[in-house]
Amino acid sequence: MKKIGLVSIGAFVPENKLTNADLEKMVDTTDEWITTRTGIKERRIAPKNMYPSDMACFAAEKCLKEHSVKPDMVISSTGTSEKLFPYQSSIVANRLSLSNLAAFDLNAACSGMIYAIAVASGLIEKDICRNVLITASEKMSYFTDYKDRASCVLFGDGAAAILLSSENFEHEILALELGLDATGSDLVKMGERDGNLYFWQDGQKVFRFAVTILSDMIKKMKEKTNLKDSDNFYIIPHQANKRIVETVSKRDSIPMEKFILNIDRYGNTSSASIGLALEEAWRLNRFKKGDYVFLIGFGAGLSWGAAAIKW
Ligand code: ACO
Repeated sequence: MKKIGLVSIGAFVPENKLTNADLEKMVDTTDEWITTRTGIKERRIAPKNMYPSDMACFAAEKCLKEHSVKPDMVISSTGTSEKLFPYQSSIVANRLSLSNLAAFDLNAACSGMIYAIAVASGLIEKDICRNVLITASEKMSYFTDYKDRASCVLFGDGAAAILLSSENFEHEILALELGLDATGSDLVKMGERDGNLYFWQDGQKVFRFAVTILSDMIKKMKEKTNLKDSDNFYIIPHQANKRIVETVSKRDSIPMEKFILNIDRYGNTSSASIGLALEEAWRLNRFKKGDYVFLIGFGAGLSWGAAAIKW
């Protein structure tokens, strides 16, 4: 088995902040409700003329900036692409002047980044490519109805990019897991209906699913990496709701300090969220050599995915 790992990371968020106080003026909500029910204080909103592909390019540029490794594959995870063609990874490759490569987009909603890591690992394993650039970029604000208080308080925009390789990597991917419960496919919906853009979810059912999956995936990653309880590990979950994490923390007696969260500042950025939190933790040196880092995504589908990385 080839060893595969993370070489570098980049992230981008738009400057404009939408705070809970701003939302109080737009819909019937309060800072208190949003904070206690979700943990979100503010989120970033991309301007009208900034597309998901732009944010993917900005994150990718930062990811590749200080590295001589040239990607020969680009996978763009997105559920909010502004166009069907040219697809997003081809826009990224063109703007970054990448050549001699293959590229495709992937949509597995909030689990997209983990699905992309799993696909990239398989492609590298089979010698189809050597260095894979993954972008995860979402402009959730485009689909958000700012008259619907149940959903508009949740989402933000942003992008992350990671470079995977079997050569010169810093942090090895030790284990991967993907899954889908298709019976829940109607529980989270986003798209266009009768000319209107919308997001809808059965929040409580999805909440219960998210708690179960997050808990199961932590156990699965521990099992697959033969992790002892004494070993140092961290969890970077999809940033959907702080209460999901608090519930798992309490139920499974995992201290909250083990979870890397930035939902208070960025809200739910769908498939970009894990990369945004990972980039921040990486930049701030939150992990030391030998630590285990579990990336765990879950969301529409109902899909999930987990990756265990040795720092
Ligand atoms: N401000 C004030 N009140 C509100 C708001 C708001 N923004 N939104 C809803 N309410 C009200 C409701 O109308 C309801 O009032 P009622 O009791 O008078 O009927 C009450 O608050 C409770 O509403 P619920 O929907 O039951 O609130 P809940 O505590 O379940 O929180 C939430 C909703 C935040 C969506 C939660 O269910 C959740 O996070 N679920 C999981 C979502 C998730 O993980 N999604 C992942 C996939 S989607 C993706 O990531 C792209």
